Amino acid sequence: MTGTAKRARWRCPSNIALVKYWGKRNFQKPMNPSLSFVLGNSFTETSVELVKGSEHKVEFFFDGLANNFGERIEKYLDHISARLHWIDKFNFRIHSRNSFPHSAGIASSASSFGALALCLTEIDFALSGKEMNGSDFLQKASDLARMGSGSACRSVYPGFSIWGSTQLFESCGDEFAIPLTEGIHPFFSGLRDAILLVDSGAKEVSSSAGHRLMDEHLYHRSRIAQAHENINRLYLALLTGDRAKFIDVVENEALSLHAMMMTSNPSFILLKPNSLEIISRIRRFRERSKIPVCFTIDAGPNIHLLYFQEHELDVKAFVERELLVFCENGKWIDDQIGAGPERLKD
Ligand code: PMV
Repeated sequence: MTGTAKRARWRCPSNIALVKYWGKRNFQKPMNPSLSFVLGNSFTETSVELVKGSEHKVEFFFDGLANNFGERIEKYLDHISARLHWIDKFNFRIHSRNSFPHSAGIASSASSFGALALCLTEIDFALSGKEMNGSDFLQKASDLARMGSGSACRSVYPGFSIWGSTQLFESCGDEFAIPLTEGIHPFFSGLRDAILLVDSGAKEVSSSAGHRLMDEHLYHRSRIAQAHENINRLYLALLTGDRAKFIDVVENEALSLHAMMMTSNPSFILLKPNSLEIISRIRRFRERSKIPVCFTIDAGPNIHLLYFQEHELDVKAFVERELLVFCENGKWIDDQIGAGPERLKD
């Protein structure tokens, strides 16, 4: 084994879906296709070191302190050991940190599993003497990330990516995401995201439980049809620079995700009164200023306010004037579409 094969260190961004993955078909396969973009400032940095041992035991440190997330990683390594046979020949020392505060209520599973999968893929390629510069490197990292957290498979590419079988691209399947590199209108290269932190408390229902509730959901079939239609419309909007259509699809998807939660059995509500207040103020601001802004929402109460670079000053003034009062302790994250993961030096 070469020196580089024993250790790897990567930074991987979080991503925010515009067409939402909600519901699984099989183990870690999506019920419908999804489309997202990676963030620039919200990321995880992880280093993986192989240590002597043969049971894939994990010593996990978060911000330098031992942490029980190691148990979840051990289970994850179990799942992927059929793909990476060398896993069973080692133990692991893993250090991780996030760029965003732990208590912000920002989901970190996409960036954490993305960073971990990139490290494992680098070690795998080094052990088998393969070059890391082909597209198969990121595809493998995407596939491994998916096994930890579905949405993580979209975090290993720059800009926009798409995951799940669709009529749009033959190359896009359920195993790994693919990047959307060609033909995206320049408007979207300056896409910005003000993440308005409404509540940092623990979620009442986990994403895994939410995915499961889609199996028997009354709107199961219509949700799948809606996601396919929305991904087609959104892709067209991205190619043509149709910002009105972009806004229409993005808000429809965000509200549909939460509508699925509110109409499942049992039902649950992750939005808070302040989330709704922010949504209605964003819509009123758009109406009166004619500035193309919109919102999207993850599986939680925080609101992502999306806007374009040219309107930065007006939108930031609006955020400060009207929205921060509805955020927990006035907190928000100033973010934008990002350049994707980065391999870090030791
Ligand atoms: O990757 P998971 O299992 O945490 O699911 C994430 C689902 C959403 O964030 C709500 C939507 C998405 O596509 O990212």
